[in-house]
Amino acid sequence: MDYSTREVVECGSATIINCLPEIGHETAVEEIIDGLTSQPKRISSKFFYDKKGSGLFEKITALEEYYPSRTEKAILQSLPLCAITDCSDVDIVELGSGDHSKITLLLEKVPAASLPGVRYFPVDISRPALEASIKELTCMFPGLAVQGIVADYIHQMHLVPGDRKKLYCFLGSTVGNLDREEAMAFVHDISETMNPGDGFLIGFDRIKEVRILETAYNDAQGLTAQFNRNILNVVNGLIESDFNPEDFGHRAFYDRECQRIEMHLEAMTDVCVKTPFTQEDILISKGERIHTENSHKFDEEDIRMIAGNAGLVVKNIFSDEREWFSLVQYGKC
Ligand code: SAH
Ligand code: AVI
Repeated sequence: MDYSTREVVECGSATIINCLPEIGHETAVEEIIDGLTSQPKRISSKFFYDKKGSGLFEKITALEEYYPSRTEKAILQSLPLCAITDCSDVDIVELGSGDHSKITLLLEKVPAASLPGVRYFPVDISRPALEASIKELTCMFPGLAVQGIVADYIHQMHLVPGDRKKLYCFLGSTVGNLDREEAMAFVHDISETMNPGDGFLIGFDRIKEVRILETAYNDAQGLTAQFNRNILNVVNGLIESDFNPEDFGHRAFYDRECQRIEMHLEAMTDVCVKTPFTQEDILISKGERIHTENSHKFDEEDIRMIAGNAGLVVKNIFSDEREWFSLVQYGKC
């Protein structure tokens, strides 16, 4: 996570601007130390995504157990893009863009003659993921104008230019990684930047059988466990600490009351962590957990409530046959 240099770099025919230094390394350190010295301990899931974490997430999306990605992709493939936006003249802003595999499915539907009228703004906290995906995307769509923004979308949405018609995309049910109130506030904030005619496409993972949910976050190959433990490597880089990820076990389970999968790292032994940013070592007792991620699941009432709270209307809910995942089109009243 590159909080050091604010810079604009050329990436083939595209540019990438790194805006994380606006937030600053000190703020990231403060947030991590605050979480590790709270009870219970926590680390924000945004710290999963260094180069290795983004790569592990990409591998997770190909797992048999991890149904959300392939289910959402199948919905995207069958989506009538022109019913969602006039694709001849639009800025597509993708929040937490990750790899390019989903947006590609939308861009493939834009007629070649219309492509010069489309501008694509992927926004992601992971600079390596953004660089890799932009390189591939500009080769696939040579006429497409791309400007990547390395930023934290919770705090830095002012960085997206506001002059043209917009289609915001927030795919993968990444909205589920926000707390309920945070998700409401975030969609509300995006709505404030929208004009009538702008669109907002959000992926929502739906509530379903607990066995299916828990299997998706406890895969047989252990990739999700590696992804979970890797957050400690990212933390080591940011707060100069000496966590050994192997001291921790992966725990992922469904909380019915909160309607979410929770991921934790559980200390397998007493752990003492040193960092120059605290006077005393951080002590974690055997069996104690660090909460690393929530992944909320949604029903139709949630989807409508989030829209209503943000002053948006639900224009379409596109779901797979089993209603395991929904791609929802919000519009501005
Ligand atoms: N949308 C893609 C990727 C989902 S993974 C898909 O559906 O496959 C979540 C992505 O959001 C990662 O690429 C991660 O780097 C990014 N992300 C997580 N928190 C973020 C934040 N606060 N600001 C910007 N990007 C964030
Ligand atoms: C990115 N996000 C929606 C994923 C999820 O399912 O919550 C991250 C993930 N965590 C474990 N597996 C995948």
